[in-house]
Amino acid sequence: MAILLLFQTCRRLIGLGLLSAVVWTAHAAGDVERGKQLATTCAACHQADGNATQLDWPKLAGQHPAYFIRQMQLYQLGQQEGGRYDPVMSGLAATLSEQDIEDLAAFYASQTVAVGTTDPKWLPRGEQLYRGGDIQKGIPACIACHGPNGQGNEQAGFPVLTGQNPGYVIEELEEYKEGERQSDLYGIMRTIAKRMDQEDIQAVAHYIHGLH
Ligand code: HEC
Ligand code: HEC
Repeated sequence: MAILLLFQTCRRLIGLGLLSAVVWTAHAAGDVERGKQLATTCAACHQADGNATQLDWPKLAGQHPAYFIRQMQLYQLGQQEGGRYDPVMSGLAATLSEQDIEDLAAFYASQTVAVGTTDPKWLPRGEQLYRGGDIQKGIPACIACHGPNGQGNEQAGFPVLTGQNPGYVIEELEEYKEGERQSDLYGIMRTIAKRMDQEDIQAVAHYIHGLH
């Protein structure tokens, strides 16, 4: 039943995503060169090519522009209803125009993500959860939305997870679990993360680091 609900939500999200894709294509695409210049401000943490080397910070290389733009808009909202708050990112996002954000999104999307490795210790459980979920716990397979190689789905708003840094993934899953991150429409990731224990979160995060 719970799984069925999740799938219905998934289908609704895809429907919504397709709608926003129509709006999205009506916008001019971002300017990669201008985005590259703007990204010098971001390089201290995310690196010049968006492959953050600090494992607690997110990689941005290869991320879908629609997801990237939406998250930056949510950081701008910050602690307001429906926003996403981070002291550094909310402060920075507030200084950027809509055009800046579109150009940054185009630049990072043009970069190639540097995939990491999975510690063999976490491989069996991580792979099991990512590819098959856990029926007993009501955890759906991540592959259903984030794809077999972690490529996500731009139209549906499912982010790229390929090679994402494990410390960052663990932190986000914990924030969804605690309800601190509320940027997920219909609470889709909050519902999933609540069903995961620390071991599940660690395993899937390390699996994602080497996923490609
Ligand atoms: C001082 C370090 C720092 C700087 C500088 C910085 N970021 Fe971040 N960024 C972070 C951290 C830490 C997070 C994760 C915050 C969280 O948990 O919400 C983050 C998250 C993000 C995310 C969300 C990623 C995702 O997968 O959801 C985006 C997008 C982003 N940053 C873009 C930028 C851009 C664009 C700039 C430059 C204008 C920038 N950042 C500058 C540290 C930084
Ligand atoms: C029904 C679709 C769906 C399923 C299944 C799903 N996700 Fe997600 N996931 C999403 C959506 C949509 C977002 C973006 C939510 C937001 O904007 O906060 C997301 C975001 C994330 C993020 C944050 C990415 C970032 O860059 O900040 C992580 C980490 C994540 N999912 C991991 C997982 C894992 C691990 C699983 C499997 C246990 C999973 N997801 C299953 C739809 C899904």
